[in-house]
Amino acid sequence: MSEVITIDGPTSSGKSSVGHLFSANIGFQFIDTGAIYRAGSLFILENNLSTADENVCAKVFENLNVEFKEIDGSQRIFLDGKDITEKLHLPQVTKVVPIIAAFPKVRELSKKIQRKIGSLQNTVMTGRDIGTEIFPDSKLKIFLTASPEIRAKRRYEQLKQKDLDISYEKVLEEMLKRDEADSIREASPFRKPDDAVEIDTTNLTTKQTVEKMLELFKARGLS
Ligand code: DC
Repeated sequence: MSEVITIDGPTSSGKSSVGHLFSANIGFQFIDTGAIYRAGSLFILENNLSTADENVCAKVFENLNVEFKEIDGSQRIFLDGKDITEKLHLPQVTKVVPIIAAFPKVRELSKKIQRKIGSLQNTVMTGRDIGTEIFPDSKLKIFLTASPEIRAKRRYEQLKQKDLDISYEKVLEEMLKRDEADSIREASPFRKPDDAVEIDTTNLTTKQTVEKMLELFKARGLS
């Protein structure tokens, strides 16, 4: 049976960079489930479908053909065979994804996709409900946190590199709103799994965080 290590945490707590490096160190595949919600949301926007209609959104997730591929040491996300990685963090996608991710039918279908991917091979999976809902029996659950200010700074730097015209203040404000929306939704709200190990990355580099995780991995007898 495959092992799934879960990493949950809010936006820009370091899940993707830490999760990807950690997975490479232990030889597991890396799956960022936020990318699944983002890929479905992108499809809905590009096809002018209604983001307010749960059944329409659910149909998209029922047929979602999303693939994760490692190319030259970085992860690329494909939708229907097309590389959509660069589009996943466009502001219009980021704006609608919490609305779409809150639909219970969308979450149920997404859960099926995530469980299937994790059952096929050893996986490091990041998201909001991986340790609580998707793989509650995981032998190692990590919960990453960081101060809102440092998370907004990280996100701002990423967006600036992509030449997106946005201020740090706006990034912080929108991030806090999204955190709240993810935490108060009825369908599997974002919360720390009771049995997760919390790592605060505010003052840690990616490498330092991964080192802590490698220690936990060994201590749990998973290596
Ligand atoms: O981690 P991220 O910012 O890429 O996540 C995008 C959105 O998807 C965010 O609103 C939270 C939601 N999400 C979720 O509800 N459950 C997950 N397992 C992963 C992401």
